[in-house]
Amino acid sequence: MAGPTGTRFLLTGVAGFIGMHVARSLIAEGHEVHGVDSVNDYYDPELKRARLAEIANLPRYSFIETDLSDKAKTAELFETVRPARVVHLAAQAGVRYSLENPHAYADSNVLGFLNILEGCRTSAVEHLVYASSSSVYGDRNTVPYSTEDRADHPVSLYAATKRANELMAYSYSHLFRFPTTGLRFFTVYGPWGRPDMAVYLFTKAIFEGKPVKLFNNGDTWRDYTFIDDIVEGVKRVALSDPKFDRSDDGHVPAKVYNIGNSNPEKLLDLVGTLEEVIGKKAVREMHPAQPGDVYRTFADISDLQRDFGFAPSTSLREGLERFVAWYRKYHGIV
Ligand SMILES: NC(=O)c1ccc[n+]([C@@H]2O[C@H](COP(=O)([O-])OP(=O)(O)OC[C@H]3O[C@@H](n4cnc5c(N)ncnc54)[C@H](O)[C@@H]3O)[C@@H](O)[C@H]2O)c1
Repeated sequence: MAGPTGTRFLLTGVAGFIGMHVARSLIAEGHEVHGVDSVNDYYDPELKRARLAEIANLPRYSFIETDLSDKAKTAELFETVRPARVVHLAAQAGVRYSLENPHAYADSNVLGFLNILEGCRTSAVEHLVYASSSSVYGDRNTVPYSTEDRADHPVSLYAATKRANELMAYSYSHLFRFPTTGLRFFTVYGPWGRPDMAVYLFTKAIFEGKPVKLFNNGDTWRDYTFIDDIVEGVKRVALSDPKFDRSDDGHVPAKVYNIGNSNPEKLLDLVGTLEEVIGKKAVREMHPAQPGDVYRTFADISDLQRDFGFAPSTSLREGLERFVAWYRKYHGIV
C-alpha cells in the first residue's frame, strides 16, 4: 500500500478492540506506534490487559497508561511523543450504557476529544483520524446511510457525543487548518471483540446454554463489519493525506466517511449463522426494542471506496468462523 513508512503515530484506545488490531497492523508495516489507554473497567479490564500483552513485545511500540480527559496529562503526552499523525479511537463506547452513566461520555468523548484536538494543534500534527459512529444517523428509514444525509437527530447521548466530535473537529480544521478525518464505524466484530456487543454476547450465551436476548423480537438489522476490513480502511486513511474537497467548505481540511460492510444482516440471521458455526442451537428469548437502539444500519461506502480504494471483503460467515475460533482459544473451549 502506498504511503510514508516509519511514521510516528499516537494511537489512543490501544487496549480496545479496534485499537489493538490497528496498532499491530501499523507496526507490521514498519511504523512507530505510541499507544495510549486508561484501561477503564467499562468491560472486563482483563481482556484489555490481554490485548495489550499481545502487542507488548512488538518493535517500535510503547504503551502509556493515561486518561485523556486529564488536560495536563494529555498535553504532556503530546510533548513527550511528538506524533506526526494521530489515530484517536479511545472513547466511552456503547449505546445502552450512555443511559446509565452519561458523565462517562462527557468526560471521555467530549473533554477527552477536546484535549486531543488541542494536542494536535499545538504539536502541528499532519493528520488526525478519529472514530465516529453509525449511530450519528439516528433512527432513519432511508437507507443506505450517506454522509450527505442530515445527522442531527441522535437517539442516544453516545451518538450525540460522536456527532459533537465531528463538529468539534470541523471547527479546529477551519480555525487552525489542520486536517481531520472522522470515520463512522458500523458494528465492528472479530477476534478480540467487545464483550458488550451482540456477536460476543450471543456466542457466550450459546456456549453456556443460556438465553440469547433478541430485542425487537430479533427484527433489527446491522451492517456487521469484520475487523480486518476496518483495519485496512483505517490504515489507508491514516497513512494518506486527507482528501478534502477544495470546491466547497472554504478549503476546510475536514472530512467524514462511513466505514462499513454495506451489506446489512438481520439479527435472527446472525443467530442462525452463529448456531451453524458453533454447532449448537441457541435458546432464543424475545424482548421488545430498547431505548436508544435503531432499527437498521446500512453504510453507503462509495466515498471511502472512491477516495481510498476501500473494499471490504469478509463475509459474515467467514468473519464469524474467525471470531468463534478465537473465542474458543481465548476461553479454552475445545
Ligand atoms: N466496535 C464498534 O462496533 C464501533 C462502532 C462505532 C464506533 N466505534 C468507536 O470506535 C472506537 C473504538 O471502539 P472499540 O470497539 O475498540 O471500543 P473499546 O471500548 O474496546 O476501546 C476503547 C478504548 O478506549 C479506552 N478509553 C476510554 N476512555 C478513555 C479515556 N478517557 N482515556 C484513555 N482511554 C480511554 C478504553 O479503556 C478502551 O480500551 C471508539 O471510539 C468507539 O466509540 C466502535
